[in-house]
Amino acid sequence: MNHFDYRGGELCCEGVKLGDIAAAVGTPVYVYSTATLERHYEVFKQAFAPRDVLVAFAVKANANIAVLATLAAKGAGADTVSQGEIERALKAGVPPARIIFSGVGKTEDELAFAVKAGVHQINVESIAELETLSRIAAQLRAKPAIAIRVNPDVGAGGHEKISTGKGDAKFGVSIEQAMQYYARAHADAHLDAKGLAVHIGSQIKDLAPLQSAFRILRETTEKLRGAGLSVERLDLGGGLGVPYFNEGDPPAPADYAAMVLGVFEGLDVKLAFEPGRMIAANAGVLLARVVRTQERPSRPILVLDAGMNDLIRPAIYDAYHEIRPVRETNAPREAYDVVGPICETGDTFTRNRALPPLASGDLVAFMTAGAYGATMASTYNARALVPEVLVRGDRFEIVRRRWDLADQLALERLPNWAD
Ligand code: LLP
Repeated sequence: MNHFDYRGGELCCEGVKLGDIAAAVGTPVYVYSTATLERHYEVFKQAFAPRDVLVAFAVKANANIAVLATLAAKGAGADTVSQGEIERALKAGVPPARIIFSGVGKTEDELAFAVKAGVHQINVESIAELETLSRIAAQLRAKPAIAIRVNPDVGAGGHEKISTGKGDAKFGVSIEQAMQYYARAHADAHLDAKGLAVHIGSQIKDLAPLQSAFRILRETTEKLRGAGLSVERLDLGGGLGVPYFNEGDPPAPADYAAMVLGVFEGLDVKLAFEPGRMIAANAGVLLARVVRTQERPSRPILVLDAGMNDLIRPAIYDAYHEIRPVRETNAPREAYDVVGPICETGDTFTRNRALPPLASGDLVAFMTAGAYGATMASTYNARALVPEVLVRGDRFEIVRRRWDLADQLALERLPNWAD
């Protein structure tokens, strides 16, 4: 479900023509729908009702503070993996009591920042991190709430680079280690051991591996409780897939919730989730313009003004994004290779894609680009960091302006070697 539809022959975001945004802001540009963001959050949250769950949006999927503020106003929390993400969440109005801090490589400074900010929970991924956090908490005279991230040895996800739950992945600790470390945390005067966390991968389209991982989490919880250790919270991570329109539909949030509620039935525990893609992906598009086309013996190339620096998913995960012309047409489709301007063959969005005839100046939209699009963008080839626009009803606002070269050069200087 999203709010990008053709109206009067032109692709619109809610009540705004994408062509009007391109004219006002230029291209390439990310465009987000407030209504879709809000709807996805509500659908996910309500799927668990009447059970009250914490839905902490994974900031890595879309870190724009206007997007975070939109979700925060609905009651969403934030799942963060760096001090920068925590600061973004706070700036967007997410209360610290709804912020989770995850990640394998939290530095001492970041841990101290999170403790001082009073975040809801720090998901600890190793015994070394647990010991470091205990020492920092003692120095700060604080008692942060922690969960131990378990690696259930169950992998899942749309691509090997985004599968996190297998035993040799870098994430989390084994069940046996989790049992030991949890007991260690419980006995620590400077740590408040609250529970366990798990996240096995992203773009998951099959509920079975999630169910296996959650069952393992339940068993581990019962064992810990059997050993006299309280377990108040379980963080079930994110990972639910979204349709990218080249393959079958992923499970609906209602099916996911029914599975979760089944696994944890009768267990008195507060559940938290960290969905990213499911909330943001279909709430955003990358709008680009055709620079020119080039005939080749095989098939024509469509050269866009957006490149792999703006949307890197096809280059690194062979990801599929539907490409829609902004002007609706019934013209017969032709096969194109669609590329960006970057000097690498990897800067190819797709090969042999059937599209209506397109020419220089035409606008196209990469669909399902609201998650892991703008957050993974770079300035490679000294290109401007792509701007972002948020639509609400028939209004739109620039929520990240386009960088100009002065923004890039402001951080650089010529060395002063002269002596
Ligand atoms: N929680 C943790 C601990 C995570 O590592 C992730 C994603 C999430 C939550 C959110 O997962 P989601 O609900 O969005 O699947 N750049 C890749 C995706 C990387 C996901 C990394 N972790 C892509 O563009 O497909």
